[in-house]
Amino acid sequence: MSNTELPIKNNKLTVKAITYSWYYNPLALKEIEIPVVPNTIVKPTELLVKVHATSINPVDCIFKGFSYGFINPKNKIIGGDFSGVVVKAGPETNFKVGDKIYGDVLTFTGRGSSSEYILFEPSKAIICEKIPEGIKFEEAASLPIVSGTAYQCLKSYGGDLTGKNVLVLGAGTSVGTYSVQLAKKYFGAKNVVATCSSKSAEKTKKNGADIVVDYTKNSKINELLEFVKVNGKFDIVVDTVRDESVFDYFNALLKPVSENGILTQVKGSYTIDYSNLKLSQFLPSLKKLTNSINFKLGRSPYFVTDILLESNKGYGDAINKLWTEGKLNISMDSIKNAYTDYQEAYDRVASGKASGKVVMKFVQ
Ligand SMILES: NC(=O)c1ccc[n+]([C@@H]2O[C@H](COP(=O)([O-])OP(=O)(O)OC[C@H]3O[C@@H](n4cnc5c(N)ncnc54)[C@H](OP(=O)(O)O)[C@@H]3O)[C@@H](O)[C@H]2O)c1
Repeated sequence: MSNTELPIKNNKLTVKAITYSWYYNPLALKEIEIPVVPNTIVKPTELLVKVHATSINPVDCIFKGFSYGFINPKNKIIGGDFSGVVVKAGPETNFKVGDKIYGDVLTFTGRGSSSEYILFEPSKAIICEKIPEGIKFEEAASLPIVSGTAYQCLKSYGGDLTGKNVLVLGAGTSVGTYSVQLAKKYFGAKNVVATCSSKSAEKTKKNGADIVVDYTKNSKINELLEFVKVNGKFDIVVDTVRDESVFDYFNALLKPVSENGILTQVKGSYTIDYSNLKLSQFLPSLKKLTNSINFKLGRSPYFVTDILLESNKGYGDAINKLWTEGKLNISMDSIKNAYTDYQEAYDRVASGKASGKVVMKFVQ
């Protein structure tokens, strides 16, 4: 794309973006200006990407839910996940014009992804990968944060997961969906036990779970104990929903740290409802704090760690491998028009009722 084809005036790119300001205001589609470098448009380390699709994640609800308009920039752009096409590539990046890419550019600066174009440094993005051949833009935009977090949870296991027992708490969430798939089909776990509601049970089995346990039923812990009796304790628990009922049964369910046992808890809220946020939703529980202190004092052998998504070596290859082997189930709740249905997309995610990612398409 030549510079004259881009909407640039006075070294500023004018684009439409989905923005937020005060926590109580709805999202708004606004024109924003992105300063660019004269002539080259991008710095040597930057990419300019024409965005095709973005997706909304609970973390976007956190950013908006705790935003106060006097913190600059006043109009922040919602979202981190994106897919699109590189239109300008700095020579120091590993990309070229025309590359189809996906990733996540979430930052505290308010320069999110839900904009017609994004300008960013790929080396500083949490995720920036080429889209595997055959994955559509809307599918690619639904992947980064949730599958990246799932990969990071499983990578936290201090060894080879082949032949191990994995428990995924909250397998109906998007992070849970990819935790089940990656554990079973990429990391080679022997048994994947997954908790979800009956609504998500079929999807979870298709994703590779050997046993599905309904978390809404009182029998949940007994079913997990039954599994352990026959198959041995879990090597890793991936907790996507802060379901801390298992803390009371660590002895019976989880291997101690001396045998590499670990519980990875995805940092987030106690309730998956992000529509009316309160700080208290994010505080650690007494149960967790007690275990953490006891662990440090050598009184508890059960290791619990918080997971906050960061850049992870090997993530892109894992997704590529699963996709090319025909084993990746991409989980999307709905695809919305970014220009008209952005509030609906946001509300659907905030409600905690979405089954898979909610994607917004900029290029129809
Ligand atoms: N720390 C990080 O870097 C990071 C990154 C990504 C996500 N997260 C956090 O991880 C959590 C999941 O995010 P997500 O995007 O994967 O969520 P999501 O896709 O929006 O999850 C929606 C699903 O959650 C399930 N669910 C609702 N209430 C539940 C409960 N009480 N117990 C178990 N499952 C329940 C429902 O499936 P069922 O049919 O099974 O009920 C629903 O379909 C959020 O808290 C998010 O903030 C953190």
